[in-house]
Amino acid sequence: MGGHVPAVELMRISDEVPERAAAAAARFGWRESCPDWRDITRSADIDLVDVVTPNDAHKEVVLDAAAQGKAIVCEKPLAPTLEHAVEMVEAVERACVPTCVCLVYRMWPAVQLARLLIARGDLGSVHSYRGYFLQDYALDPSMPFTWRFDRNRAGAGSIGDIGSHAIDLAEFLLDDEIVSVFAVTRTIISERPADETIGARPVRVEVDDEADLLIKFAAGPQGVIQTSWISTGTKTDWGFEIRGRKGAITFSWSRANELRLYLASDPAETQGFKTIVLGPQHPNAEYFWPLPGLNIGYQEAFVITLGHFLSGDGDAPTFREGQRATAVIDAALRSAESGTWKNVA
Ligand SMILES: NC(=O)c1ccc[n+]([C@@H]2O[C@H](COP(=O)([O-])OP(=O)(O)OC[C@H]3O[C@@H](n4cnc5c(N)ncnc54)[C@H](O)[C@@H]3O)[C@@H](O)[C@H]2O)c1
Repeated sequence: MGGHVPAVELMRISDEVPERAAAAAARFGWRESCPDWRDITRSADIDLVDVVTPNDAHKEVVLDAAAQGKAIVCEKPLAPTLEHAVEMVEAVERACVPTCVCLVYRMWPAVQLARLLIARGDLGSVHSYRGYFLQDYALDPSMPFTWRFDRNRAGAGSIGDIGSHAIDLAEFLLDDEIVSVFAVTRTIISERPADETIGARPVRVEVDDEADLLIKFAAGPQGVIQTSWISTGTKTDWGFEIRGRKGAITFSWSRANELRLYLASDPAETQGFKTIVLGPQHPNAEYFWPLPGLNIGYQEAFVITLGHFLSGDGDAPTFREGQRATAVIDAALRSAESGTWKNVA
């Protein structure tokens, strides 16, 4: 983090279910809760608004906060549609307010190190990318229908919910844009109970449970991204394999504090992937570890991202990056519908 990270006061928290906001305020030490989020976006004692509503409600809050000149953090995916995302980016750029989208995994030390090694040419010219984000939290068909399964509210299924991270990581790691996509999506659990009441009428699911994307980058590399929230047995894993003419890198969140590196220049008899154990000598890890190998986790991904945003050093992902991921998701959905390659808008 380049600059000073200012202290943060937890001022006001809101939820459309007021009891939830009150409970969260009490539990996490917010000064107060309020039933209407406009008492946050329009309040003179608030500098920063953090939008953590379902995807379809991001835009209204963001536009109001931008109009009031607030700094804004917004959850991913930035929006359920590319149109929403473009409108949001235009509004915050018109208002000149600082923004951050919670594509937090790009700030992860192993990802930062991988990007640095790629940028300085250790892998040579990269030709192949494989990325994935897999979970199985939606495998149980008795899991009730929520906004995540509603195309109008979520925008997409696994490809938006967790694919937004996988897409952002691909572009961030290669410092390149995905320009076209061929996607196949599947909805395996096609209906879900409306709520937890036994015998409740099922609701049709119109978003993907799984998606496979073939991708082409502007500079030439090709690859695949796989997303699933019904990935039986995999509770949470995301990762990547990046292969160049001189070397390769692999990473799995299940070994979040290790990066594996292969260098073709190693002597033939000792060639193979070696494991780099992350520590304070690596980017974004220096705040947590006195020694390598002590390990940090999921919550620190948010701490690192927000630390950069609050310090104003320009390293945290902005709404522009949020829009990029949304544009690739948009192309993937169009591709899956048409069965053809689609360019990213
Ligand atoms: N960055 C990440 O890794 C990450 C992880 C989890 C969730 N998310 C994102 O966070 C957002 C919220 O996800 P979640 O899992 O917490 O959802 P959730 O359904 O568990 O919680 C959403 C909350 O928002 C409230 N709400 C809904 N509409 C509202 C409105 N119009 N105004 C005020 N409150 C409203 C609901 O009452 C609920 O308490 C989503 O955009 C999701 O994609 C991001």
